[in-house]
Amino acid sequence: MKPKALITKNLLSEAMEYLKEHIHYKVARTDRYPTKEEIISGIKDKHGIISLLVDNIDRDIIEAASDLKIIANCAAGYNNIDVEYATTKGIYVTNTPGVLTDTTADLTWALLLSVARRIPQADQFTRNKKYKNWELDLFLGKDLGGKQLGIIGMGRIGKAVALRARSFKLKTVYTDPKKLTPDEEKKYKANYLPLEKLLESSDFVTIHTVLTKDTHHLISRKNIHLIKKQAILVNVSRGPVVEEKALAEALENGDLWGAGLDVYENEPEIENKLLSLDNVVLLPHIGSASYGTRIKMSMMAAKNLVQVLTGKPPINPVNLEEVKR
Ligand code: DGY
Repeated sequence: MKPKALITKNLLSEAMEYLKEHIHYKVARTDRYPTKEEIISGIKDKHGIISLLVDNIDRDIIEAASDLKIIANCAAGYNNIDVEYATTKGIYVTNTPGVLTDTTADLTWALLLSVARRIPQADQFTRNKKYKNWELDLFLGKDLGGKQLGIIGMGRIGKAVALRARSFKLKTVYTDPKKLTPDEEKKYKANYLPLEKLLESSDFVTIHTVLTKDTHHLISRKNIHLIKKQAILVNVSRGPVVEEKALAEALENGDLWGAGLDVYENEPEIENKLLSLDNVVLLPHIGSASYGTRIKMSMMAAKNLVQVLTGKPPINPVNLEEVKR
C-alpha cells in the first residue's frame, strides 16, 4: 500500500508527476487555497502533507492527523508551521532552502532599482501616452554607485545580495545575530554593524531575515526614524518584520525617500495608505517566482515528502535533531 499525503494546492506539474509515481495523494483544493477546516478534514488519514507559505499549519491541524510523519513546506521560510508542536509529536518539518537564493537576490535588486529609478511610474507614464518630449528633468531618480547598502540578515540571500552589490559599486554593511568570519567578510566585502548603526548610516536597506519572535517588527515606529530621509527600504523577507503602518507613515511624511515591498504584514492585505503612495513599489510576494526556481522548490518539497514516507531521512529537515531525540 502506497503512503498517503495531502497536497494543499497543486505544485508545479513536474512535482505532481513525481508524486504520482511514489505515493497516493489528494489535493485539498485546486481552485483556491483550502480553509483550515478543509485541511483538517483532508489530513485525517494522511501520513504527510505538502504545504505552501500561505497555509497556517497549526496545532489543530497537526492534532487532526494521528499518523502524520512529515510536513513538507514548499518555501524556504517556515514561520507558517508550528514547528515546536510538530517536533513534540515526532513529525519532521522540511523546507526548500538554497534553490531560491539567486532568484530572490535578483528580485531584491530589481525592486531596489525600480524604486531608485522610478521604473513603474515611468512605465505607466509612457503607456498612458504622456511621453511627448524628452525632458532633462523627467523621472529623476537616485544613483546607486558610491552609496552604502545595509543588509539585514546575512544568510544565503543576504550574501547573494552582497555579491551583486559589487557590480553596482556599493559599499556594503550587514547586521545579523551571527557575525561572518573575517574570511567571509572579505569574500562578501561586507562589514558588520549593529542594527541601529546600520540604519543610521545606510542609503539603501534590504531585509532578508527569517521571521521569528525576535525579528517581528524589527523595523518599527521605535527605530524607523533612524533611517536617513533620503534612503530606500526594501523588504523581501516576511512582512511582519516591518511595522507596516509605521512604514506607510514615514513614506507619506517624507521621512523616507522610498520603499520596495514584496511581502506584507497581513498578506495578502496591504496597508491602505501604501496603495496610494507614489514612492513605494509593491509586488505580490514573487521573490522566488522564476520558472526554474519554482520547479526546483516544488520538486524539493515532493522529494522530502517521498523520502520520509518511504522510510528514509528527510533531505531538508529543520527539526531533524529534535525529532531524532
Ligand atoms: C520562501 O520560500 O520563503 C519565499 O518567500 C517564497 O517566495
